[in-house]
Amino acid sequence: MKIFITRPIPESGIKLLRDKGYEVLINEAAKDRAADKQEILAGIKGTDALLSVLTEKIDAEIMDTGLPTLKIIANYAVGFDNIDLDAAKQRNLMVTNTPDVLTNTVAEHTFALMLAISHRIAEADKFIRAGMYSAWGPMLFLGTDLSGKTLGVVGLGRIGSRVAYYAAKGFGMKVLYTDVKKDENFERGVGAQFFENIDDLLSRSDFISIHVPLLESTRHLINENKLKQMKTSAYLINTSRGPVIDEKALAKALKEKWIRGAAIDVFENEPKVEPELFRLNNIILTPHIASATEETRNAMAELAAKNIIEALEGRTPPNLVK
Ligand code: GLV
Ligand code: GLV
Repeated sequence: MKIFITRPIPESGIKLLRDKGYEVLINEAAKDRAADKQEILAGIKGTDALLSVLTEKIDAEIMDTGLPTLKIIANYAVGFDNIDLDAAKQRNLMVTNTPDVLTNTVAEHTFALMLAISHRIAEADKFIRAGMYSAWGPMLFLGTDLSGKTLGVVGLGRIGSRVAYYAAKGFGMKVLYTDVKKDENFERGVGAQFFENIDDLLSRSDFISIHVPLLESTRHLINENKLKQMKTSAYLINTSRGPVIDEKALAKALKEKWIRGAAIDVFENEPKVEPELFRLNNIILTPHIASATEETRNAMAELAAKNIIEALEGRTPPNLVK
C-alpha cells in the first residue's frame, strides 16, 4: 500500500502507517508553505490513500489522477471544506476528518483569544516592550470581565458546546446559542438558552463566538448588517473558518467602533489578511493555530493514520464524513 502526504505532519502518525508496512511518501518541499497542485498531482499517482491538510483544495482532477488505486482521502483537520465532497462521492472515495481530538484545544484557544482581547493582553505587551510603563495607574488598560457576561455561541457542535460549557462552568457566563437544531439536554446541563434566529442572539450577547463549518449557507454569515446588530460593547471571536465573516465589513466595524473588539484565528483569504486589520488596536490575530498544541497535533496525525489503516484493511474508518 502506498500513501501520499501533502505536507510534513507529526511523526507519530507517519509511524503508524510505516508500522503497517505501507510505503509513505511525504511532500517534504511543502514544510513551511502550502503544497502546490503540481506536487499533489505528481505525488498521488498510484497511491491507495491521500493524507491532506487544509491548505490544499482537493478537487476532481486530483482524485482522477489518484484513480483507480486511490480509496481514501484522510484530511488532517476537523473541517473538510477544502475537499470537493460531491466529486469524492461520485468516485466512491472515502473522506475522513479528525474530530474530537482537537475539541478541548480549540475551545482553549477560543478562551485565550476571548481573555486576551477583553483584558487587552496584546496591547499591554506592546506598551511595556516599548518602554512606556512609567507608573502603575488606576485607569491603565481598563478591560472587561468575562464573569457575569453573556456569551452567544453560533454553532453548537463539539467545539461550540465545549466553549459554552467552559463559559458557564468556569467563568459564570450566561450562555445563548443558535444552531440548526435545539438541544434540550445541553440546555439543561449548562443553563443555555436557544435562539432560532441569530439576530436575537447577536443583539443580546457581550461576547460572540463562531463555531459553524464553512458551507454556502454560512459564508459571510457575519456581514455588515449582522455586525450592526451587535452591542457597541461586544467582542467577536472566530476560530472556525475565515469566510464565515466578511473581513472588510469587520475592519469597518472595528474602525468605526460598531463593536468593541474582535479576536480571530482564521481569515477570509488565508494566508492573506485584510491590511486594514493590521492598523487596528481593537483586534487580536493568530495565524490559524487554534488546534496547534503538541498533544493535539500528534493526536490528529494518529487519527488521520487510523482512518487510512481502517479503510485500507476493509473496515469503515471511524471518522467517515457523510
Ligand atoms: C482546523 O482548522 C481544522 O479544521 O482542524
Ligand atoms: C467540530 O469539531 C465541531 O463540531 O465543532
